[in-house]
Amino acid sequence: MSTFQAPKGTYDLIPPNSATYLAVREAIAAPLRNSGYGYIETPGFENVELFARGVGESTDIVTKEMYAFETKGGDRLALRPEGTASVLRAALEANLHKGGNLPVKLWYSGSYYRYERPQKGRYRHFSQVGAEAIGAEDPALDAELIILAHQAYRSLGLRDFRILLNSLGDKECRPVYRAALQDFLRGLELDEDTRRRIEINPLRVLDDKRESVQEQLIGAPMLRDYLCEACKTYHEQVRELLTAAGVAFEDDPKLVRGLDYYTRTTFEFVHDGLGSQSAVGGGGRYDGLSEMIGGPALPSVGWALGVDRTVLALEAEGIALDIPAATSVYAVPLGEEARRVLFGKVTELRLAGVATDFAYGGKGLKNAMKSANRSGARLALVAGERDLAEGVVQLKDLASGEQTPVALDAVVEEVRRALG
Ligand code: HAM
Repeated sequence: MSTFQAPKGTYDLIPPNSATYLAVREAIAAPLRNSGYGYIETPGFENVELFARGVGESTDIVTKEMYAFETKGGDRLALRPEGTASVLRAALEANLHKGGNLPVKLWYSGSYYRYERPQKGRYRHFSQVGAEAIGAEDPALDAELIILAHQAYRSLGLRDFRILLNSLGDKECRPVYRAALQDFLRGLELDEDTRRRIEINPLRVLDDKRESVQEQLIGAPMLRDYLCEACKTYHEQVRELLTAAGVAFEDDPKLVRGLDYYTRTTFEFVHDGLGSQSAVGGGGRYDGLSEMIGGPALPSVGWALGVDRTVLALEAEGIALDIPAATSVYAVPLGEEARRVLFGKVTELRLAGVATDFAYGGKGLKNAMKSANRSGARLALVAGERDLAEGVVQLKDLASGEQTPVALDAVVEEVRRALG
């Protein structure tokens, strides 16, 4: 161990487990790539104001969890706590919405940072794969995104997850509801902090995990009963499209997300094997966000799935992904001349697309064969002086132990044949 350790709330991805993370990212990205989403990458930090305005001044994310700092040049920046505000900022900056081809569909994958209290499934540095569909108000788009996330989880073999669905209304009906909820909440026995929340962000009170608060919330007005006709119709269509696609969901009238930009459709994917950090992904519609950050009206919808928690969900269900061995062929030279010749063959094999590794460091035969087995390779190429004198190398099947001499200039061909 060195003097240093990974910072609190973070962990390193290390082989062989890191392969599972890559596979999860890939599994989430695949349905998006297959559905017209283009890849976008934005900086790891942004002007702090973008998140304050976008995610919301009163959210925990902005008030408590942001890694904000001032640069030597005097810029106020923050490590990104989420992706939506950045992606929309980038799309507006590049005028993607002006190409006459709405919605602009984008997907991304990267690191996010929140100064949270660390626990299993909750980290200060974590990883998301996300998707945003910018500039269209169409219930089919909301449904598409939920269906694609569902498809991603299913392709990983996950079963014990549920989809929670809600509508948060729009700028017509939500203010009316907000006022009614505030009236109700002001009459309850609540602590100072929660009372303050009633004034700033009353919907978040519904999300309070404490039993003492939940008891008092019985009989609270529900947004469902306040939705305007347009929001009701929209939501009904999303529900119908999901049902028609065979994607089961649960209506959760109390689902409030931790970010302020949501309007209408909101959803969360929860996994039942994860304990308190059960949300493996979440998202929704954010019709007002563009205007909040100085852009034109661009109704949009998106989600982000947590890679770390998806990996934990796989573990909880006892699913081991079928990850092919990184190495197919392992070359073991015996002596200097063999080293030179086999190294050349390794390069040739790699150029031919065969995953190949080499016994470096002048290992003896026994050690080198151990490394060959550990690498997961199916074949070893072994050569010593006598083999070279005969113009061959030994091709060894590591499972059966069977060994056959192969002419030096036929190595690539024979390896290919042996690997099938
Ligand atoms: P979010 O619900 O804050 O939404 O995060 C999405 C997912 O990221 C969570 O469901 C969780 O799996 C993972 N996640 C969040 N925080 C942590 C953490 N501290 N440790 C580990 N995993 C975490 C958003 O970020 C929105 N931008 C989603 C969105 C996209 N909405 C519309 N478009």
